[in-house]
Amino acid sequence: MVDFLPFARPDIGQDEIDEVVHTLQSGWLTTGPQTRRFESDFAAYIGRKHAIAVNSATAGLHLALEAIGIAEGDKVITTVYTFTASAEVIRYFNATPVFVDIDPITKNISVAALKQALAQHRGEVKAIIPVHFGGLACDMDELLQCAAEHGASVLEDAAHALPTTYHQKLVGSFGDMAVFSFYATKTLATGEGGMIVTNNDAWANRIRTMRLHGINRDVFDRYSSSKPSWFYEVVAPGYKYNLTDVASAIGIHQLKKLDMMQGQREHIATVYREQFADLPLDLPYADPNDRHSWHLFTIQLQPGGLSIDRDAFVEKLMGLGIGTSVHFIPLHRHPYWRDTYDLRDDDFPVATDVYRRTLSLPIYSAMTPEQTERVVQAVRRVCHDHSH
Ligand SMILES: Cc1ncc(COP(=O)(O)O)c(C=O)c1O
Repeated sequence: MVDFLPFARPDIGQDEIDEVVHTLQSGWLTTGPQTRRFESDFAAYIGRKHAIAVNSATAGLHLALEAIGIAEGDKVITTVYTFTASAEVIRYFNATPVFVDIDPITKNISVAALKQALAQHRGEVKAIIPVHFGGLACDMDELLQCAAEHGASVLEDAAHALPTTYHQKLVGSFGDMAVFSFYATKTLATGEGGMIVTNNDAWANRIRTMRLHGINRDVFDRYSSSKPSWFYEVVAPGYKYNLTDVASAIGIHQLKKLDMMQGQREHIATVYREQFADLPLDLPYADPNDRHSWHLFTIQLQPGGLSIDRDAFVEKLMGLGIGTSVHFIPLHRHPYWRDTYDLRDDDFPVATDVYRRTLSLPIYSAMTPEQTERVVQAVRRVCHDHSH
């Protein structure tokens, strides 16, 4: 039986464990002092006025669209090359997603396709949700300019993009609003969790209210201030999207080592790049002047380069004890999106082609140099065994 290397694994150290124990012993488990500390540390790290913690990025995207004012019938543009969460939040409002294709090099939203969609739906597009795929920043200058010309807000799906830079600025530190994910496999992991960042006071206030039932006073404030604790007012029909202090306790220490963990993934990416340079694989694009978060390291089989297809490649690696994944099965390949919006492969030729040839390799800070070497040797062997 070969020793199995999982595709992803969180990097949880003694600091996170001690802080969780401390929180459990404190008597306060839900949103409270630890979440406030995590939010203020996060806002300072990114360089934004507001950081609002929520229990998932999906919840964050939902609240962000609510604050922007998305309503039934509005149109919101996103790509098909993403996780379903980026688009499902649009459906929560009975608004209509407009799907566009991606750029073949970056796998991010194609600016040409975006411009076409904006022209086709002139005056109807209220927001654009670009996804920084794998941790590579989208072309934000172009995107923000297009959005401004069409009066649309930009909500960045930054689930993969911590810490990513664009023109040397951290993703989330500029633009309208961005949402990060702290799901178990992400670059900052709290199990489940997310953070919304913005400089817009009105949006931030609305999100803070809506994440906790539309109540205009948070629970910890009610129990820790001198005002009577029983009194609160519901000002809107909100949601239950707050983050617990137990999760925030993990987040506080994950944030402290975020740059260190990125450095370790960057090193693995460099090793992969060097070791795979002679293989019939397309390697992920990275801008040499900016930081890629390296949440994902995707490889694509070059057309005709090997005698096996992607599915068999994944199976062969599994046989050698290497866990992989595929990012993403594009949305137009899922029954709900395909059938509801009559989406076809031909409408998204780039996403369809990339999907057929891609797989994602393990890349995480908890990987040892020996484990990185195992992945290298396994990929080289599969390519060697199945070259023409
Ligand atoms: C691009 C993208 N957006 C959003 C999400 C949703 O994140 P969460 O699980 O925190 O809701 C994910 C999760 O994998 C994702 O990959």
